[in-house]
Parts: sequence; C-alpha cells; structure tokens
Amino acid sequence: MRVIVIDDEFDAWRAAALDALAQKLAPESVDWRTAAQAEPGLFNEAAPSEKQAADAPQIRVSRELATLLKDAAHFRDPRRWSFLYRVLWRWAQGDRAVASPADEDGARLYKMAKSVRRAQHDMIAYVRFRQRDASLGAPEYVAWYEPDHDVLAWGAEHFAARMGRSTWLIATPDGAAMFDGEHLRLERRRALASEHATDVPDAAEALWMTYYRSIFNPARLNESALEQHMPVRFWKGLPEGALIPKLVSDARGGARRVAQAQSVGALGGKAVQVDAHDAQPERDAPTSLDTCRRCDLWRHATQAVHGAGPSDARIMLLGEQPGDQEDLKGEPFVGPAGQLLQDAMQRAGVAREQVYLTNAVKHFKWEPRGKRRLHKTPAQQEVEACSYWLEQELHDVGARVIVTLGATALAALFGRRATLSAHVGRVVPYRDKLVVATYHPSYALRQNDEAAREKTVADIVAALELASSLKT
Ligand code: URA
Repeated sequence: MRVIVIDDEFDAWRAAALDALAQKLAPESVDWRTAAQAEPGLFNEAAPSEKQAADAPQIRVSRELATLLKDAAHFRDPRRWSFLYRVLWRWAQGDRAVASPADEDGARLYKMAKSVRRAQHDMIAYVRFRQRDASLGAPEYVAWYEPDHDVLAWGAEHFAARMGRSTWLIATPDGAAMFDGEHLRLERRRALASEHATDVPDAAEALWMTYYRSIFNPARLNESALEQHMPVRFWKGLPEGALIPKLVSDARGGARRVAQAQSVGALGGKAVQVDAHDAQPERDAPTSLDTCRRCDLWRHATQAVHGAGPSDARIMLLGEQPGDQEDLKGEPFVGPAGQLLQDAMQRAGVAREQVYLTNAVKHFKWEPRGKRRLHKTPAQQEVEACSYWLEQELHDVGARVIVTLGATALAALFGRRATLSAHVGRVVPYRDKLVVATYHPSYALRQNDEAAREKTVADIVAALELASSLKT
C-alpha cells in the first residue's frame, strides 16, 4: 500500500493524482492522507513537487467531470481524496460511466458536488456580519460561520466581490478569511468562535432584532417550514437565531392554550368567527422553495427545481418550467431542451458555468400520456405565484442581462400582454437590467423541418451572442 500525503486542497490532490496515474497505481493500492492525518515518522511518500507535477502526463476529462471533481473536493469527508482518485482512475481507464449519475460512483460524486453547492448557497444566505465600533479599527465587519463543507474560500471570494472596500473577517471552525479592502487572506487552522470576538454589539442589529420580534407571528408558526427556511444549524450565526427558541416556545405555549380552549369550546356554547386568512396561513406564509405551497403544482412534481449557477453571474437564462428529467434530477436544463441550449451556448461562446439558469415556474407541470409525463404549459396564475421565487433570484444573483427563453419566461417579467413575436431578438430594459427575448429550445426541438429548426437555433444563438456583447 502506497501512502501519499497531500495538503488538504484540490490542487495538491490533482497534482498527486496525476502522478499516481502516471505510475499506474490502482486506487486500492493507494492510501491518501492529508498532512494532519499522516503519522509523524511514518514512511510516507510526499506529494510530487510542483516541477514533478508539471512533468506528470495530463489526462483530459470532460468539463462536467472537472467541475464535479472540483466541487466534490470541498465535501467534508476524510475519504474524499481516495474516492476522487477512484473516479479519476476509472475515467483514465476509459470508463466514461463513472461520470454518469446512473453509476454508483457517479451518483455519489453528483451527490457530494450538490451538497457542496448547497453549502455555498447557504454560506451566502446565512453569514451575518456584525459591524464593530469604528474606534476599534479594521475589520469593520465580523462574522462567525460554521459551513457544512469546506466552502470558506469560495464564500470569501463572493463577499470580497460584493462588499466593496469594507474590511471584514469571517471566522469558521477550520480557519478564517480576512479582507483588508484590497486583498483577501485565508488562514487555515482550527478556531473557536470566542477567539475571533465576532460577538460584538451592533446598533443596526438591535433594530433588526426588534423588527424580527415584531413580525414573528406566533399564530402562524409552522416549525418545520421555519427550520427548512432557516436550518437550525445556522441559527448560532444569525442575530435573530438567539431569539427564535424563545419565540417558538412562547408560540407553542399559546398553541397549547388554544388547544385547551378548543376542547373547552367543544363542550358546546357560542360559535366564534375566525378570519379565513388566519385560519389558512400556509398558503402565503414565507416558506423555502422546497416546501412551497403557493400554487398546487407541487402536488404532482417530484421536487422543486432551484436555479443553478454562480450567484454573481452576469447573465441569467430564464426558461419556463422544469421538464421531466429536470423534475427527477432537481436541476434545470438537464434534459433534451437543456442539451440543445448547451449546444447553442457553445456556439455563442457563452460558458454554462458562468450563467445562472432558472425557470419562471419551479415545479414540473405535466399530464399523463400513457406511461409518459407530458409537459403542460403553466397558467399565468402559476407563473405569478412562482414570481415570489424569481424575485428572490433576481435580487440575489444580480445578473445584469436576462435572456428569456420562450413566451412564458417573457410573460413572467412583462406580463401576459408581452408577445414573443414583438420582442424576439430585441433588447428591452427591465428595472436596472436588460432583457433579450428569444425562443425556447424545446420550440426548436418540436420543429420537424430541418431548415426551420436550424433557423430557430440560429436565433437562440444570436440572442445569446447579443446578451454577452451587451455592456452593462
Ligand atoms: N425547459 C425549461 O424551460 N426549463 C428547464 O429547466 C427544462 C426544460
């Protein structure tokens, strides 16, 4: 058994993995350890030097596999390096199934990458900076955060791009990121919250807590929705997190009182009128997309399909709704329309990893046709119900250019009166953004005539080129 010791980072693993491949070391014969796991004095083989790594033969992996490996490398599991090496080894042996979610290793790889991406989104959503007293000097803002996976560096890049020249520090149990207004510095070592003094008084925070207390409606408490929307593990990093347990237990106390009142009420007596809105709170209550009940589409869908892509993407591609495959996989544009869109993006020189892909409606609407589930166009009411989530994405992603694919996406922004024929290929301002309207890729797929189909694809390509050429 060969022991290979690496720094706990993707680049170090990649260099060592390429070297191991060059030596034809089968996965079962390699024991991957990080410096922290290696026993001192043991005869470990060090990872290759930079020079050796540069000399190691390169292998070509698909762009998708490269992204999966990179993302999964942040998954918190000490065995991940040996697992990733097994994936790479199988690929190098010509076993392309390893990159498919239908394969056991492939499925695990997808799951790991997805979990890491979720942790990245969580980090953006749940890091709460507290402003320090100006007399203390830099950093002006501090936050304590406990990510599920090793996403500190990624999150730090995000905040460095978003917070201008403010100085800040994010401390986590495995290290800290510091930004001095110009440079980002990462420090990797185990830390305690108390060490970083992130628990500082903040006047704005006091206001926020008062506000949070005032909007918390005990009569509408739905604990599982609350925990899904704001998972308990993040509470400790959120100012309002400290308030929630007490608010919830007070609300439960209230619920008990109501229950008692109901049993007493059942004994007979005067009927009490209840406001219908209060009696059916779930429909409008703020929930996470995964538990959304704003319309009825969730009932027949496998899951809600979230948008995907970098949260600082300049271009957002807005489709209609997930299709059959998207519904099963939980990712947008992974079926045939997605493949056509991918080809169009390639022709237009737009990298999929750089755009944010989403849909006007997040649940698959379908009707049975034999054994198949046939796409059904969502009603405008459903589009409007779902606009709540689109609004959040428009706000969080901040894309400057939106490409609408098809009539439903266009109507989601401009209302039903906006016709595709009047907008196609045009640039239209929308709030502080620019919208380029084009056809939906499945419209191209439905055309039997080869020339007509190519013309539609060419129009989609042109719209993508136009979107990426816009100066915003
Ligand atoms: N069609 C869409 O509009 N969106 C998808 O995600 C897939 C197909």
